[in-house]
Amino acid sequence: MLSWDDDVTPAAKPAPMPQPGIAPAMPAGRSLHAQFGDMGLKAATASANAAAADEGGEARRVNVADKRIINGQTDVNQLVPFKYKWAWDKYLAGCANHWMPQEINMQRDIELWKNPNGLTEDERRLIKRNLGFFVTADSLAANNIVLGTYRHITAPECRQYLLRQAFEEAIHTHAYQYIVESLGLDEGEIFNAYHEVASIRDKDEFLIPFIDVLTNPEFKTGTMEADQTLLRSLIVFACLMEGLFFYVGFTQILALGRQNKMMGAAEQYQYILRDESMHCNFGIDLINTIKLENPHLWTAEFREEIKSLFLRAVELEYRYAEDTMPRGVLGLNAPMFKGYLRFIANRRAQQIGLEPLFPQEENPFPWMSEMIDLKKERNFFETRVIEYQTGGALSWD
Ligand SMILES: [Fe+2]
Ligand SMILES: [Fe+2]
Repeated sequence: MLSWDDDVTPAAKPAPMPQPGIAPAMPAGRSLHAQFGDMGLKAATASANAAAADEGGEARRVNVADKRIINGQTDVNQLVPFKYKWAWDKYLAGCANHWMPQEINMQRDIELWKNPNGLTEDERRLIKRNLGFFVTADSLAANNIVLGTYRHITAPECRQYLLRQAFEEAIHTHAYQYIVESLGLDEGEIFNAYHEVASIRDKDEFLIPFIDVLTNPEFKTGTMEADQTLLRSLIVFACLMEGLFFYVGFTQILALGRQNKMMGAAEQYQYILRDESMHCNFGIDLINTIKLENPHLWTAEFREEIKSLFLRAVELEYRYAEDTMPRGVLGLNAPMFKGYLRFIANRRAQQIGLEPLFPQEENPFPWMSEMIDLKKERNFFETRVIEYQTGGALSWD
């Protein structure tokens, strides 16, 4: 049996910090530098530069030991020297896995959807509610990265990955739109589901405050409270949104594909799942490195608060499972997801250094691990065989 999704990419092994726990409040000039790079650098280090000019400018060179994930003071415009190689490796892996929604043939899905006997009413409800969550979820994710997270992260290797991730979120939104358009679904119904369907709205309303706080132009890191706010939002985004709220939906569509239904949509979800698995792993590496660099943030009170957020997220995702599957469908039913969500939540908690939240749960869907681990060259549903890997494909012979 293939392993769980954290084996897809190398785990983070952050370098030991020379002075763990030291994260002084940021002077304004340094904060400017961290966010705007060269502009801030000029303001913050004008006198140092004058001295360095006489010594060949070496004083302003980036020293690996000075780099930090948050509240860093080194030039964010200099990718190297690398400190967070795990982030760069994930950037390369993301690029090598590039795909586009239009590459996938949707013809059989269209025929099945239009055939009055092709799918049961429960299957149709499941597909529509499923897309109803996802068509806006990845726009939330993209906006969270671009307008929120990105500017608070001061490691250029991590910013490089976030830029790739933001584009992948755009591809995912495109993929969901492409499925809706291909099937000729009511766009008004699907794209407004996050306002109009309670089980979807509740998930989004849980997430949005954690996004809003980072996208607020007034928000800046550099204090204990602000840094905990950022860390809390990063945990909600990686562990609970990408790492939990996507899993009922992914499992449902992939279960359809396993029964030779909606194979094109299932193939799209398969690639999205693989991307999301990497996003989640990147986020967990980011969280753990911030913890390592700023251990004072990880207080008992903070950990308790995170645990209660996990419990709330499991409850919301379970309600979504019940709403999308009021009866058994495709060999799935909502109670099976109770165990699955507890299994995933335990896994996510352990990945960020918390105790499991629930008694040991078995994974009721071991085949999901195979989906996550799948190599891109050959898709699980065998609707086609293609060489996707673009990394290293150039030849200058
Ligand atoms: Fe996504
Ligand atoms: Fe994502």
